[in-house]
Amino acid sequence: MTDAAKVSVDGKDFDYPVMSGTVGPDVVDIRKFYAQTGDFTYDPGFTSTASCQSKLTYIDGDEGVLLHRGYPIGELAEQSSFMEVAYLLLNGELPAADELSQFEHTISRHTMVHEQLATFFRGFRRDAHPMAILCGVVGALSAFYHDSTDIHDPVQRTIASHRLIAKMPTIAAMAYKYSVGQPFLYPDNSLSYTGNFLRMTFGVPAEPYEVNPAVEKAMDRIFILHADHEQNASTSTVRLAGSSGANPFACMAAGIACLWGPAHGGANEAALNMLREIGTPDRIPEFIARAKDKNDPFRLMGFGHRVYKNYDPRATVMQKTVREVFDALKVNDPLFDTALRLEELALSDDYFIEKKLFPNVDFYSGVILSAIGFPTSMFTVLFALARTVGWVAQWNEMITDPDQKIGRPRQLYTGPTQRSYVPVGQR
Ligand code: CMC
Repeated sequence: MTDAAKVSVDGKDFDYPVMSGTVGPDVVDIRKFYAQTGDFTYDPGFTSTASCQSKLTYIDGDEGVLLHRGYPIGELAEQSSFMEVAYLLLNGELPAADELSQFEHTISRHTMVHEQLATFFRGFRRDAHPMAILCGVVGALSAFYHDSTDIHDPVQRTIASHRLIAKMPTIAAMAYKYSVGQPFLYPDNSLSYTGNFLRMTFGVPAEPYEVNPAVEKAMDRIFILHADHEQNASTSTVRLAGSSGANPFACMAAGIACLWGPAHGGANEAALNMLREIGTPDRIPEFIARAKDKNDPFRLMGFGHRVYKNYDPRATVMQKTVREVFDALKVNDPLFDTALRLEELALSDDYFIEKKLFPNVDFYSGVILSAIGFPTSMFTVLFALARTVGWVAQWNEMITDPDQKIGRPRQLYTGPTQRSYVPVGQR
């Protein structure tokens, strides 16, 4: 650890304090850099910039480590539940038994949505992408729950956080039901968070629905794997939107919009579509060659990560979960074999080895979700449902951070310098 970083600008030396976290790289505090030097720093994509301090999640991308409040993701995925992880992320510690049951009770009492919201759904085309619906409906929650939009009131912040976590499964299931033309199902609070979601998605009012415990467990684990991932693009979007004082529902809608992109949450949909396009293992070399070709925009979806330069620990759990779901449902999707072979071939290819490209969380999730019965268009919705916990926890942390300011990056201007307006007839 160093005490200060020295920077020389135009022959003048400046010292910048170095801050240390509990683990991970130190950061150079450049907050006074512009005031002292008159220059900005340049870092598109924030590859070297820490945008905040956070106690929630730690990633060591070189070692393939992911910790939530210090607990390894593998242990949480194996031994915990999504509700427990949600409590952990929100409150900093694992709950005692009574705290957990109180939290589950509170969340289950917020699962219904305002009845008027169903009418809102009907304004969408039937073939609307469920992410488009989710984005619109979650943003619209701010018009329905006025009593929890004062971000300066900690009680309102807590209620908004619980509402968002509780209502996401209901809204996600409604988006699905709307797309297949089936009636919406009200929540059944006697079920678990995840069981309730499965019933609202796959049940119908005409028949009783029995939750398959193995599928419920697998789905809950998938939610845990997606719960938080420190300052990724959508979380940073939520923080940036929230930094202006926007209400939490609007901030979550911004996060959902960002998550939708194929380089982020949309990759699970893209990964399964890619596996379907590849089809059989004999065609894999052709696609690997395309991924390596600089003149071809094609990339192996579900491969590579900004932070992980090693196996994504979430992908390890996900690969194991595929087999569990297949066994429980007595299915065997040949695309899983294609995925395993693709991983094997890519990981022995110099291009992927040199660039440290490994399977990420999205590589296997599509195969599982498809086996459970979700259409590909729902994959990113499930990601958003789970990530809501992380977004909400990060948003709360940001609001209470004394260093928090409105996010306002600077730029290197490369456009024209000042010039005079020329009337249209003289151009
Ligand atoms: N297939 C082929 N080449 C790749 C891939 C890939 N999937 N990913 C990165 N590369 C190459 C890239 O072409 C570049 O090569 P070069 O240095 O010769 O120009 C090099 O690896 C570095 O890539 P980058 O785009 O500069 O890295 P990044 O950190 O900006 O991008 C990424 C990370 C996740 C956007 C990228 O790896 C990617 O597009 N992967 C496919 C999409 C995907 O699976 N996304 C899900 C991410 S995990 C879930 C989530 O957190 O949302």
